[in-house]
Amino acid sequence: MKILGVSLGTKNGNNDTMCRVALEAAKEKGAEIEFIHLHDWNIDYCSGCVACSRGLVMGKGMICTRKDDFAAFYDKLVEADGVLIVDPIFESGGTGLFHSITDRMGPGHDTGMLLMLDGKLKEQGKEGLNPRLFQQKAISFIGIGGSDWAVRTETDHAMFAMSPGWKVVNNEFFSWSKDIIMQDDKIARVQEIGRNLVDAAQYIIDNNIMIPGSENVDLWKGEEGACPHCHGNNFYIFPGTNHAVCELCGLEGHLELKDGAMKLVADPELGPVGQEWHCHDLVSGKAAHGADIFENESRLMELNKDETFKARKAHYTAVCAPTPAPSKQ
Ligand SMILES: Cc1cc2nc3c(=O)[nH]c(=O)nc-3n(C[C@H](O)[C@H](O)[C@H](O)COP(=O)(O)O)c2cc1C
Repeated sequence: MKILGVSLGTKNGNNDTMCRVALEAAKEKGAEIEFIHLHDWNIDYCSGCVACSRGLVMGKGMICTRKDDFAAFYDKLVEADGVLIVDPIFESGGTGLFHSITDRMGPGHDTGMLLMLDGKLKEQGKEGLNPRLFQQKAISFIGIGGSDWAVRTETDHAMFAMSPGWKVVNNEFFSWSKDIIMQDDKIARVQEIGRNLVDAAQYIIDNNIMIPGSENVDLWKGEEGACPHCHGNNFYIFPGTNHAVCELCGLEGHLELKDGAMKLVADPELGPVGQEWHCHDLVSGKAAHGADIFENESRLMELNKDETFKARKAHYTAVCAPTPAPSKQ
């Protein structure tokens, strides 16, 4: 069993150190460990070209126009049985680099899309994708902050696991932690997170859990949380109502006070969005989302040939040209 720890902090800073604390605990439980200091790797941001989703939908394969280390990083993730990501808290949430890897995990590595491609390749008589891509995986997140600005951290981090549909075990953040290496309670918790990850990864291996069919597998070891599906605590509340959407898994319903705690109660009367099968991390939810994207992309491709569409595009493009970047002049 292999546990991969990834730190997005400064070299040998608090995030690297806490990642190593968890990895040491994982190693003591018998896991093989590997550590990546992600700033050493060349990871570009997603340009939004959508070559990845088009490539998957059209049965062409996994395509990305960015030529950097992300594909090798993804291979490392796929190879691991458990992944721990330790990320500094920036502006109450994940870092820019973390958002970049989340975007890069986006459509091109979405299990729903990969399953669609696998089916298309096999239909064409070709070999399907590496079955390892459909193996479940345990993943945990730690955010480390120098103050108490932290409320988006959990949602930003767990979003990384939504595209592949991997199971989140722990998702925690530590505020006021510039001196975390001296705070024994926090170090003990980070060690526990390392051990929890090994247990969850072992459970997946022992039960040979694949992503399709793992809808009811819950490996969560954290606090219960307000969302009944993903344990999330951040919601978009429609103004003037208690109608809310979980910012992480997309489940919709109403926020209600139960035994002193605010809970999201899913509401099937809102349609598919109010039903658990539609959540963003499940293959069933991904299939619905994929079908919607396919319809929208196809409509846009047709519109590109439409004269009114072309005239509108030309009109607005002529309104103003972008200012060239000073560094590129
Ligand atoms: C751009 C920037 C934004 C930050 N925003 C926050 C914040 O919102 N909340 C917080 O607790 N710490 C914030 N910090 C502090 C970092 O989380 C802290 O410096 C980092 O965890 C140190 O990790 P390292 O030792 O691994 O580099 C910020 C730091 C930077 C550089």
